[in-house]
Amino acid sequence: MKKRLAVLTSGGDAPGMNAAIRAVVRAGLHLGYDVVGIHEGYKGLLSANCRLLTARDVGGIIQQGGTILGSARCPEFKLDSGVQQARTVLEAAEIRGLVVIGGNGSQTGAAALAATGFPVVGIASTIDNDLLGTEISIGVDSALNVALEAIDRIKITASSHHRAFLVEVMGRNCGYLALAAGIAGGAEAIVMPEIEMEPQVVIDLFREAYQRGKSHAIGVVAEGAPYNAAKLAQYCNAQKDHVGFDLRVVTLGHVQRGGAPGGFDRLLATRFGVAAIECLDQDVTGVLVGLQKGQIVSTPYALVSGKTKGIDQSLVRMIGMLDA
Ligand code: ADP
Ligand code: F6P
Repeated sequence: MKKRLAVLTSGGDAPGMNAAIRAVVRAGLHLGYDVVGIHEGYKGLLSANCRLLTARDVGGIIQQGGTILGSARCPEFKLDSGVQQARTVLEAAEIRGLVVIGGNGSQTGAAALAATGFPVVGIASTIDNDLLGTEISIGVDSALNVALEAIDRIKITASSHHRAFLVEVMGRNCGYLALAAGIAGGAEAIVMPEIEMEPQVVIDLFREAYQRGKSHAIGVVAEGAPYNAAKLAQYCNAQKDHVGFDLRVVTLGHVQRGGAPGGFDRLLATRFGVAAIECLDQDVTGVLVGLQKGQIVSTPYALVSGKTKGIDQSLVRMIGMLDA
């Protein structure tokens, strides 16, 4: 029997996961491995819900959002007993190495499995962009583009009605999507968990935009900020006269996770997938594959797992420099 590797997707899905699965399977086959697809993340791993994948099985998916393997959250895997059970399942299936495509929680789980001595390689994949060890994760660029399209559309109706909008974006506890969407979407206010900001500041920014004669104002709000969009709206509406504009709220939610991956994510996912297989092939394990300074790198889990990337200060410093 050929040496056997496996791949799973875990946590919140991200556009580009399928492209990563495809690359893992095809690069694995290319190097002479059999590749098993595990369904529904760690949940499927614990119940041995898996099947061998052929090159054809992953045909026609590079352009598809979501994950053909399915994803899940699995509380049992957070326990030592869950990790041990996963190892037993993998050994019983004669799997010699595992690729985990997922976000921060999934990579913490992967690190726990790797700590038992099982060969694991992670692929950074989350729209939150909160993983250390990579400047950008699979899905971030596509999710950002969805948020930007929404903001562009909202601006049009906002201008027609002289309104301000609070647009809430995902990111869990990380403000990256809000920061990037706020800057690239030309927002008047950006609210994120990493930067302390009194809600009054948002009112002031909207009011200043109103007084400068703008026909609309946009505030991009991270869902993880202490004042999310709903709380901020409540605060602002209590001082309606000070805002200037009439106010509306839009929560983008899971719309950002759906849809097709763009070219950047397809390419990134393909590069990550091939690199992950090369790591397993070269016995470089217990690492997370990511992108740094344009290069694909693998960073030991000891340096990245269980941690959260800080906000990009080079972006933060531009807020306030771009007002009109
Ligand atoms: P994401 O990977 O997108 O950040 P989650 O944080 O929900 O999503 O994590 C996905 C899964 O990873 C969890 O359901 C759990 O099975 C596993 N996981 C998360 N945190 C840990 C942890 N501290 N230890 C072990 N496994 C974890
Ligand atoms: O981690 C990705 C993410 O989309 C976060 O931005 C968000 O907070 C969370 O997942 C939503 O989780 P669920 O899909 O379980 O509602």
